[in-house]
Amino acid sequence: MKDFLSRLDGYAEQFERILGKYCAEMDYRPSVLAESMRYSLQGGGKRLRPALFFSALEAFGGSPESEGMLALALECIHTYSLIHDDLPAMDNDDFRRGRPSNHKKFGEANAILAGDALLNEACSIALSESGKDENHRLAAKWLIDAAGAAGMIAGQSADILYEHSAEAGESELHFIYDNKTGKLITAPLVMAAILTGKHFAEMCAFGTELGRLFQMTDDILDVKGESKELGKTIGKDSAEDKLTCVKVYGLKSAEVRADLSAERCEALLEGIPEDVSFLQQLVRYVRTRTY
Ligand code: IPE
Ligand code: IPE
Ligand code: MG
Ligand code: MG
Ligand code: MG
Repeated sequence: MKDFLSRLDGYAEQFERILGKYCAEMDYRPSVLAESMRYSLQGGGKRLRPALFFSALEAFGGSPESEGMLALALECIHTYSLIHDDLPAMDNDDFRRGRPSNHKKFGEANAILAGDALLNEACSIALSESGKDENHRLAAKWLIDAAGAAGMIAGQSADILYEHSAEAGESELHFIYDNKTGKLITAPLVMAAILTGKHFAEMCAFGTELGRLFQMTDDILDVKGESKELGKTIGKDSAEDKLTCVKVYGLKSAEVRADLSAERCEALLEGIPEDVSFLQQLVRYVRTRTY
């Protein structure tokens, strides 16, 4: 695990360098716009999605050093999704990554605009990258679609739709998981598969299961996590009566299902001949994470 954590740190640092340069050069006006974009981009975060991307590229013989901009586009989208997720009209969360959420710091209108701007940034970066060759075009298209109306946004829409629902159950839960979380977790893995020409189907299947595991642990941590460590308010899901795995199965059964999901994730990596030990260990990390 020590080796895993140092590799995770390494990928995160690699990403922070790219992000730092991008943020330093950002000079949009009015300055509050750039400030609020930077506030959320640089406010911590595990950088799990860039780590998935870089590690899968490395495993499949690609070049993480050359693909930093696609990681940046992905994290811009992830960050915008969190800014909007926290808005009063959505989850109404005052804290994110241990700090006031974007709208608490800059006001709702600025938070909406910062999120919008980050999505445009991501599209612009993806469009530039797509000019490199056909594989980059396909990878960029995959990313933008994963974020859209048949992806993350669909999941967020369902997440809101099924608040306070007495009828919704497992299939609605899976729709939410596979879209709001799974699509942006699968995107870096699939982009790496497209760019290297390796294991496309395996990365689709693994990413979807990892997305489920990731969101199950997120839902469980909302119940039993520690607010300070998590950097978010605890108990928000039950307060908003969200459709979570804890609501559908109960906490104990949700934990068992998360264990089974972790086993499925591991099994899905088994046939891959390249060294995917980082991804294998990442499954354990996601299952046992505390933030
Ligand atoms: C939070 O994602 C949103 C979910 C999909 C549950 P992360 O837990 O990866 O957020 P950061 O980037 O580390 O803050
Ligand atoms: C958010 O899910 C997923 C996206 C932002 C796409 P949650 O609403 O459960 O995430 P947290 O708990 O606020 O991080
Ligand atoms: Mg939400
Ligand atoms: Mg939320
Ligand atoms: Mg949550």
